[in-house]
Amino acid sequence: MKLKVLLVVFVGCIATVVATAQNKLTVDKVYSAQLKNSGSIIGDGQVKGYFLFYQSDKVDKKTNEYTLSILDQNLNKVKEIKFTDSKDVQLMEAAYNGNALSFLFHNKKEKIFESRVYGFDGKLKFTYTKELDKKSEEYLKQLELMRGDNEDATNDEVFSVADKGFATIIPLRDGKLHTYELEYYSSESRKQWAFNPNDEEHWASAVFLGATDSIIVLEVSKKDRAMSGKTTASIIGLNYETKKKVFELDGSKDKFNFVPQYCTKLENSSNLLFMGSYFSKTDDIVRDFSQGLAIYIISPTGQVVSSTYNSWAKDIGKYVNLNEKGKIDDIGYLFFHNIIQSSNGKLFAVGEGYKRVADAAGIAVNALSMLGGRVNGGGNTKIKVTDMVILQFTPDYKIAGATIQQKNSNSFHTMYADLNSQHALALYVKALGGFDYAFTTADKEVNSFAICYNDYERSSDYKGETFHTMRYNGTKFSNDKLELASKASSLKVFPAKPGSVMIMEYFKKEKRLNLRLEKVN
Ligand SMILES: *[C@@H]1O[C@H](CO)[C@@H](O)[C@H](O)[C@H]1NC(C)=O
Ligand SMILES: *[C@@H]1O[C@H](CO)[C@@H](O)[C@H](O)[C@H]1NC(C)=O
Repeated sequence: MKLKVLLVVFVGCIATVVATAQNKLTVDKVYSAQLKNSGSIIGDGQVKGYFLFYQSDKVDKKTNEYTLSILDQNLNKVKEIKFTDSKDVQLMEAAYNGNALSFLFHNKKEKIFESRVYGFDGKLKFTYTKELDKKSEEYLKQLELMRGDNEDATNDEVFSVADKGFATIIPLRDGKLHTYELEYYSSESRKQWAFNPNDEEHWASAVFLGATDSIIVLEVSKKDRAMSGKTTASIIGLNYETKKKVFELDGSKDKFNFVPQYCTKLENSSNLLFMGSYFSKTDDIVRDFSQGLAIYIISPTGQVVSSTYNSWAKDIGKYVNLNEKGKIDDIGYLFFHNIIQSSNGKLFAVGEGYKRVADAAGIAVNALSMLGGRVNGGGNTKIKVTDMVILQFTPDYKIAGATIQQKNSNSFHTMYADLNSQHALALYVKALGGFDYAFTTADKEVNSFAICYNDYERSSDYKGETFHTMRYNGTKFSNDKLELASKASSLKVFPAKPGSVMIMEYFKKEKRLNLRLEKVN
């Protein structure tokens, strides 16, 4: 693929010249921008700056001009790079790690993925390409249809791997073959590596759970190709330096079946912490209700250091109201977005509720589609995203408290709402941006932190988007709210320096991006 660097404008040391914080920035000539392709640059848990990516011109019928801008934490421009590219090239996703930015492009005409890795100085470090075969093209088509122009759809194809590189999981679909490939590419030196389970016997899909400075951890669901057996979940650790599989934990020695959903590095340790649902051995992890939440501590070589189980009925039920199926009444199931390890050894899990509700409109659509012979008119259920639920755990991972923050529930109708597995359903809601959780910020020592989420209000005083922070000061949570009603075509809130958030608005007609820092308590 031809990548012509048109001109490289080194706005250079503006940041050092302009000593005062401007806290505001207007960018003109923005032909098109998806706000999810911009982001905060975070190092050591603190916001150091921002990157913006947008289409800055239309050169001719076949060619667009794009701009990548790097800003400091006060919104001063540090670097700006412009390049032209064919309009067949579409940006799929942007990601950053501790020392580089990665942009994943899909060239539909040439059927390739291209990853461009930039340093924070704005210099192109490496370009990696990956030819896409029929199997993954097919998957991408489906993905595109599902997401459309949805601004809220999250990035979940490209993952940062410590500060060393990036990884992409490419699902492969071809008739009965249903598997995946993991691509790793380094941001330190030119190095690319792929892992493919090469297992024709099973139907497999993988979810990226996390990475340390040597391994990438995946959750892999597997099923017999005959489709008769149960689905099993396992944790796979891949060393991306030695290119070897280090461990595969299939839980066969466990007394429960554990389905990990979230993984993070344990503070002050080289071990990993996994959190997820656990099921009794005889249950089906796709169809049955889980017994509760488990926390596993696993060493980088795959040794299970500890496993702690908090059952819905006996343990969690002491702090939140549950019905007999492990659903929190009115809240539904919990999806975990983040785990916070505060300086005093306390552990917080940031969850958000979701549930299926019967959908009269969906039933009507289905009745109509039966008459009209249309196939996928939609399910008879819709998904409702409910409250924020913060669970607190003791240093030995037993539940010690819960904070429930009510918000206005939002619901959406989708043809996938009838998905059997609550886990698959949650991942689907996440991919479509259905959850309200935004991000968590913390001070360097994690003495205090703020959990942020979006909401929408319809009251007599105010109608529109709101942005909420739940601040934990070491002993208690307190709430703050920003009203974000705006005439912009799209709006997104990003993490910022302590005490602030960054609000970015795109005005499509005026071709303008507005960025500003706003104080939050
Ligand atoms: C990690 O160790 C540092 C230094 O000993 C300590 O201040 C901090 O609280 C510890 N963090 C956790 C989560 O235990
Ligand atoms: C946290 O907030 C509570 C309630 O406002 C207050 O009583 C407490 O002293 C605060 N703690 C710290 C460490 O600031």
